[in-house]
Amino acid sequence: MRFYAISGSVRAVSVHSAMLRAFRDNAPDACEVVLCDLLESLPIFNPDREGEATPQSVLEFAHEVGKADALIVAAPEYAHGIPGGLKNALDWLVSRPELIGKPVLLAHAYSHGRGHYGLAALEEVLKTASLQIAPNSPFSVPLVGRSPEETKDILSEPAVRRSIRTALEALRQWVVTLS
Ligand SMILES: Cc1cc2nc3c(=O)[nH]c(=O)nc-3n(C[C@H](O)[C@H](O)[C@H](O)COP(=O)(O)O)c2cc1C
Repeated sequence: MRFYAISGSVRAVSVHSAMLRAFRDNAPDACEVVLCDLLESLPIFNPDREGEATPQSVLEFAHEVGKADALIVAAPEYAHGIPGGLKNALDWLVSRPELIGKPVLLAHAYSHGRGHYGLAALEEVLKTASLQIAPNSPFSVPLVGRSPEETKDILSEPAVRRSIRTALEALRQWVVTLS
């Protein structure tokens, strides 16, 4: 089963991207996690450029989403909302077929109640775009505020690696029940 993992942060030392790399590196045999690196290549969404005029980078992104059995989305909260680049990417797909009914696992890197506005906003957008949010969402590892070294250490802990495998296996089993 193929999962397409989208980080809402394009920062080089993003904790959200680090979490998604840990998903990729700890995936059980039955699952493959492919990391999205296309957000920065997408132009600003313009409905005039849908259909025949759709940019190549958008077609590539849509193709990756379309061939995934599920998405995994990890995004920081920016000003209590969704990062613009992620919202832009989702806006490109809202009128296309690839997102319809797509299962999605949300991953959350905050602790102490932080980030809940961003998470709620993300859920609202995804539900509006007809995605199905995995019952084991949000998968949570508190990483925001940690240094890259600390982030690496936390994501290497055996208990965290086990919880990632368990989350991916639960996602796989849930996706099977949907088909
Ligand atoms: C433009 C901007 C806006 C932010 N807004 C919030 C916010 O509303 N709430 C919050 O808890 N953190 C906020 N932060 C802090 C981020 O949550 C934090 O930097 C996080 O680590 C970013 O994720 P990343 O490491 O994956 O890039 C903001 C950061 C930036 C750059």
